[in-house]
Amino acid sequence: MVSYKELGLVNTREMFAKAMKGGYAIPAYNFNNMEQLQAIIQAVVETNSPVILQVSSGARKYANQTLLRYMAQGAVEYAKELGQPNPQICLHLDHGDTFELCKSCIELGFSSVMIDGSALPYDENVALTRKVVDYAHQFDVTVEGELGVLAGIEDDVQAETHTYTDPAQVEDFVKKTGVDSLAISIGTSHGAYKFTPAQCTRNEEGVLVPPPLRFDILEEVQRRIPGFPIVLHGSSSVPQDKVKIINANGGALKDSIGIPEEQLRKASKTNVCKVNIDSDGRLAMTAAIREVFVNKPAEFDPRKYLGPARDSLKELYKHKICDVLGSNDKL
Ligand code: G3H
Ligand code: 13P
Ligand code: ZN
Repeated sequence: MVSYKELGLVNTREMFAKAMKGGYAIPAYNFNNMEQLQAIIQAVVETNSPVILQVSSGARKYANQTLLRYMAQGAVEYAKELGQPNPQICLHLDHGDTFELCKSCIELGFSSVMIDGSALPYDENVALTRKVVDYAHQFDVTVEGELGVLAGIEDDVQAETHTYTDPAQVEDFVKKTGVDSLAISIGTSHGAYKFTPAQCTRNEEGVLVPPPLRFDILEEVQRRIPGFPIVLHGSSSVPQDKVKIINANGGALKDSIGIPEEQLRKASKTNVCKVNIDSDGRLAMTAAIREVFVNKPAEFDPRKYLGPARDSLKELYKHKICDVLGSNDKL
């Protein structure tokens, strides 16, 4: 058993309390390789901001959970080396689906876990979440639960439509489980294909605008559990400039629209304390790599295409921090 505290990591408790008070949200960026982690750490050091590093099941299968934990430990030292004496870095299990998985991550040094029982019947979700909370809190590890099901792809689970969070359940869920934060479903979804152009309308400038997030549900949730940290999954915005670069350089992405940054900016000022972003990073990396492959076809040193991908990722992460979530200069 390793305590995350020995690794210099932090849980989400103080991060969320400060975010709630300050009217901003913390980015939760997924990582599964070194370049992504370097980009995240460089971005948060340069913006003097806290961050949540997320490890999904896909990441665990791809990169190995132990290796990822040591990389996160290294990330704390890397941040210090880059000039941040007191980095606020949380290592979080994204979409944990069993008690055993949450327990093994806690024992390995994770400072926060998500137990996602959102697809289970309500009582089973409550019981599973309670079990994880009881274990995690012994070690001061924070726990995120979920109510409501997002549309889209989540690891191997695909839901065709949203099951929006029922605000009438949140008070009971939070009370019975003892969770530290709650992910809710208000119209965001996982992956790069959130909305088709047919689901959108055009504004005066001709830009496609998707249906707005259900801020009415968020407000009702806030009314029922005031001051309680809320999490938004599926919050990529699918930058159209990256999609264009990918498709202009041999890619074949379908038309897709993400969550407008304006909506995320608005949500960040509310009780939403954690915003999950993965797909936008994938698009930024892919765009940069495809450009190198097309413009320099003789290049075969991975550093020559992963380097530009890392630089592009860092800019994307800094943009989210400074221009969307408002978590810059909060250390
Ligand atoms: O929740 C979804 C995240 O984007 C992680 O996806 O399991 O493919 O790494 P992944
Ligand atoms: P995106 O696919 O919108 O980036 O969402 C990521 C996520 O919610 C990870 O848990
Ligand atoms: Zn998610």
